[in-house]
Amino acid sequence: MPEADVSKKEKMYYVDTPQKTPGFFLKGAGSLDWGMKNRLSRIFNPDTGRTLMLAIDHGYFQGPTTGLERIDLNIVPIMPYADALMMTRGILRTVVPPSITKPIVMRCSGGPSILKELSDEQLAVDIEDAIRMNVAAITLQVFIGGEFETRSVHNMTRLVDMGLRYGIPTMAVTAVGKDMVRDARYFRLACRICAELGAQIVKTYYVPEDFETITASCPVPIVMAGGKKLPELDALTMAYNAVQQGASGVDMGRNIFQSDAPKAMMQAVAKVVHENMKPKDALDLYETIKNKKK
Ligand code: R5P
Repeated sequence: MPEADVSKKEKMYYVDTPQKTPGFFLKGAGSLDWGMKNRLSRIFNPDTGRTLMLAIDHGYFQGPTTGLERIDLNIVPIMPYADALMMTRGILRTVVPPSITKPIVMRCSGGPSILKELSDEQLAVDIEDAIRMNVAAITLQVFIGGEFETRSVHNMTRLVDMGLRYGIPTMAVTAVGKDMVRDARYFRLACRICAELGAQIVKTYYVPEDFETITASCPVPIVMAGGKKLPELDALTMAYNAVQQGASGVDMGRNIFQSDAPKAMMQAVAKVVHENMKPKDALDLYETIKNKKK
């Protein structure tokens, strides 16, 4: 049994020294193949190195989530404001017009519902079907410390292998069990494991303390997951802090589609992500766009 990392020596993350990425704009992607780089360039804006991904895949384990009851009516109209869209193949094929050319990040894991142990997932999409849907990336949950940790990591390594075969990047989502502590120590562990085992993108949650050590110690781009609905200013502040502290963008769901004005929120978050707009200014923009509609 290898020893745990218990050295008394202080860990050095060099948070002020960005990782070099010779040959490509995106962290850790310099040595990837053309197809992989091209797909990543569709997800991440090459000018800013960041993305505003809209996550609407919640139904794969919790059914018609508030705000996602009618994706055709409420979500399709806001899709043009996103850089990338994260969803299931069921939603893609049933309600998303193929004329929408936004890059799709395809949810490829599933199994348990909200009524069961969520870490008990398996791969749920074949790579051939992902190719058929012309996806830009494939994605799944990884439950570090969860009951089915090893299986979920193995799901990821299989998905990474399939993606590498066809030049499709894999985004690992660090899923946290209900009773687990959400702190920088945990997310450093989870994100680094996902990157070490091959994920080209890692999606993880923001923590107010030491988030920059999570991004610094993860050799691939991190996108921030939104989490439960917050007041708009808090959500914009969280997105702002995440990108200022090294995240390569956000992948937000509820904080956009459960907002009073999802279209306005998309535009405000986009300014934060791509133009470093301050949260208060972004809130003003949100209010202005929201009130224009009335
Ligand atoms: C949940 O497991 C899904 O992967 C969601 O895409 C993810 O949690 C992001 O959505 P939200 O911003 O609502 O947390």
